[in-house]
Amino acid sequence: MDAIVATNLTKVFLSKKRIGRLPFTGEKVWTRALDGLSLSVKEGEIMGILGPNGAGKTTLIKILSTLIIPDYGTAKVNGYDILKEPIKVRESLGVMLTGERTLYWKLTGRENLLYFSRLYHVPNHLARKRIGELLALMGLEEKADELVENYSSGQRVRLNFAKTLVNDAPIVFLDEPTMSLDPQFSRHIRNVIKNLNEEKGKTILLATQNMLEADELCHRVAIVDQGRIVATGSPSELKAKLSERKSIKMIIRNLSLKEIRAENLPNDAEWTVSETDDGQSILLQAIVGNEDGTLSEIVNMVTRHNGEILSVTVDEPSLEDVFLKFTGRRLVG
Ligand SMILES: Nc1ncnc2c1ncn2[C@@H]1O[C@H](COP(=O)(O)OP(=O)(O)OP(=O)(O)O)[C@@H](O)[C@H]1O
Ligand SMILES: [Mg+2]
Repeated sequence: MDAIVATNLTKVFLSKKRIGRLPFTGEKVWTRALDGLSLSVKEGEIMGILGPNGAGKTTLIKILSTLIIPDYGTAKVNGYDILKEPIKVRESLGVMLTGERTLYWKLTGRENLLYFSRLYHVPNHLARKRIGELLALMGLEEKADELVENYSSGQRVRLNFAKTLVNDAPIVFLDEPTMSLDPQFSRHIRNVIKNLNEEKGKTILLATQNMLEADELCHRVAIVDQGRIVATGSPSELKAKLSERKSIKMIIRNLSLKEIRAENLPNDAEWTVSETDDGQSILLQAIVGNEDGTLSEIVNMVTRHNGEILSVTVDEPSLEDVFLKFTGRRLVG
């Protein structure tokens, strides 16, 4: 059975620009956050929603969890219609949204989890046991009886994650769950997500901007851009769409951005040219069909300018390269 089926979801937001001190009197701005998005997720699947800022990921999760309603289209979650049976939908879900407003700051971590367990009608004895396990899982045992206002932002994210699991729902929505966590805890969360899926059979919808996370965790990935799905498939299927192609990265010194931009780079590829983080060198990247020919053209160009090639890497395409192919833009940066 499909755990989630979304059909033609469309959501347009209307906001007004503020002029001076007067609120919301200015020009109207319409934003099409979702633009006829259709998607299905099988029971037991981890589905990634991969897209840049503003792609519509959070809007999709909010619509599927009945927090906002679509202007057009509909969806079923766990077999229930989001518009006709919103309570059944909510009972089927654990939802982790980003943001600071999802917890009560004047309660302790443990009290927050108890409060949300009661909202979900989890019997008290079961709730206490589960909350103890979740606090341990999130490394929050020491902090459990302190007010949330005293937590670090990473600790709040961890508590938020624990909150998502208090009702032990079969379907879990995670909106960028590792966003403000350190690398070590991000890894831990990824393992927890894997276990929730493999051992507890949960269906997971994971919105992320992190290619490696999507590649590592997701059975399938939908690449979303401007409210639309531009490609869907398993990470390896998506990468296979670029088979025969290679990802080239070169770091070049003694050549300016201006000089490179004035050149005719081999035009069978989409090039991105940027400065390296230290500002000392240029990073040149592209997905190419014929890497040998392309490399020799670049080497000639750099030699003509008396530049110096510091490094060259030629790799199999990554999910990020797939994103570039389908949207014409890079995800990061
Ligand atoms: N309440 C709102 N009012 C007006 N515009 C909104 C509202 N919520 C979202 N939008 C707009 O809809 C678009 C999609 O936003 P959304 O939050 O779904 O993107 P996202 O993919 O989650 O991005 P991010 O990676 O930054 O979290 C954006 O252009 C955003 O500005
Ligand atoms: Mg978002």
